[in-house]
Amino acid sequence: MTQHLAAPFSGTSDDAPGHRRGWWQDAVIYQVYPRSFADGNGDGMGDLDGVRRRLPYLAGLGVDAVWLSPFYASPQADAGYDVADYRAIDPMFGTLLDADALIRDAHALNLRIIVDLVPNHSSAEHEWFKRALREGPGSPLRERYHFRPGKGPDGELPPNDWESIFGGPAWTRTTDPDGAPGDWYLHLFAPEQPDFNWDHPAVADEFRSILRFWLDMGVDGFRVDVAHGLVKAAGLPDIGAGGQLRLLGNDVMPFFDQDGVHEVYRQWRTILDEYPGDRIAVAEAWTPTVERTANYVRPDELHQAFNFQYLGTSWQAPALREVIEVSLAAMRPVGAPATWVLSNHDVTRHATRFASPPGVGTQTRQAGDRTLGLRRARAATLLMLALPGSAYLYQGEELGLPDVTDLPDEARQDPSFFRADGQDGYRDGCRVPIPWTREGSSYGFGTGGSWLPQPAGWGAHSVEAQTGDPDSTLELYRAALTVRKEHPGLGAGTAVEWYDAPEGVLVLGRPGFRCTVNTTDTPVRIATPGRPLLASGPIAAGEADDGHTELPADTTVWWAV
Ligand code: GLC
Repeated sequence: MTQHLAAPFSGTSDDAPGHRRGWWQDAVIYQVYPRSFADGNGDGMGDLDGVRRRLPYLAGLGVDAVWLSPFYASPQADAGYDVADYRAIDPMFGTLLDADALIRDAHALNLRIIVDLVPNHSSAEHEWFKRALREGPGSPLRERYHFRPGKGPDGELPPNDWESIFGGPAWTRTTDPDGAPGDWYLHLFAPEQPDFNWDHPAVADEFRSILRFWLDMGVDGFRVDVAHGLVKAAGLPDIGAGGQLRLLGNDVMPFFDQDGVHEVYRQWRTILDEYPGDRIAVAEAWTPTVERTANYVRPDELHQAFNFQYLGTSWQAPALREVIEVSLAAMRPVGAPATWVLSNHDVTRHATRFASPPGVGTQTRQAGDRTLGLRRARAATLLMLALPGSAYLYQGEELGLPDVTDLPDEARQDPSFFRADGQDGYRDGCRVPIPWTREGSSYGFGTGGSWLPQPAGWGAHSVEAQTGDPDSTLELYRAALTVRKEHPGLGAGTAVEWYDAPEGVLVLGRPGFRCTVNTTDTPVRIATPGRPLLASGPIAAGEADDGHTELPADTTVWWAV
């Protein structure tokens, strides 16, 4: 392809002389889930052209970077997290030329582009895996995955007790080319997602090459899928206790968070550093503690890691304060920015999580009290955007979208739904295509319907309906991101200052700012900290001079001091 592909980001530079902070250290990064963002060709499925056309919206929103979930060639057994060709775009999303145009247009708008990299497993349709199956036992391609003979007299039992995250055993038995039952292969996710064997040098070589391919295309970074899973404990030992895997428990599992993964990231870091323009990587690493998460962002490893402990925290002041303190303390020794996230494509949107009492979990089908959920979600967002470090937004949260909790079973597509007898796997609820217009086919998502049904009235949440309405969630996000840009102190640093506050209230200080958060269901009187800048809900003008303000229930206010 042409040489302009390799052009690094050349927009406004935070790393200009005298200002050594990398752009990513306090960046607000917006996750686009391509199949549900905007449909450019009217086939009911979002695509890269749709994203490209909506880039001005994202620039206007005020985010610094866009992370795109996978758009690679894939049979879509797990919505693209099953990659058949890491260097090709799935025709449903477009072509490499579309990706090139998207990257160039984004850069012209001062937006960085982060792409998803899926190194733990490929698709079962990946050329290596297809050949491994076709060539049968003894094929050298089998060594790039985890093939093992089964247990039991005829090998009819899986090689160990590990279970798939999506339910059922983490092993599937193969059939030999002669039709006889053969070895088993490991898949921590769906059977269509065989795990790579990262002890094999060809796997490591291939991913170094894939990194370069996309860096040469001009991307600004990678979100590393299942970054904690690449290396498995030698001998693939049983875990006992029913083989249940725990994502956030106290134990290190033999398939997760093994120390060997860090060597992979040290190698990747040297590649990222070879490229101009501050290219980054962010780890999706589910680890037992934030301290172990910090290992992924040591100075010679990746740049950021998602803070799932924060995402899982309920709307209660003491829990929020604790997770903020623990997160900042864990990142400080390794010099990495803390990150904050409330929603993504794998969890119930926070406007719905917060609509139910604490303890509802990160995947729920309870609709709860929508008004309450939205009020808390807006307050939670202002708290998040007042914290030092980098924040991740998930498409549609700026519209205050709730999860769609009543999708009919026949519409559902999440592979974990099919593997868990319909008990589980409700990730489709946050993946419903987003509304751009009040009316019209799929509310402006595209001209040809929508791959998951949108609920009636979805247009009331649309960008069109909210734009210009000062009380809308969209305008709240726009205002918050404008303030954050105008006052770089908001995202900077590694600490917050806490002030005395009534029960259920947080008062935290940032340079030149206070942020007051009332997580209770009643108004609370506090000493007025300064001049109000932005509030997540209506605040009373207050009596002129008694020096106090009434903070409404479930409301966050930013103050200039
Ligand atoms: C990550 C992705 C999730 C996917 C899984 C397997 O957790 O976020 O969507 O199903 O990895 O790739």
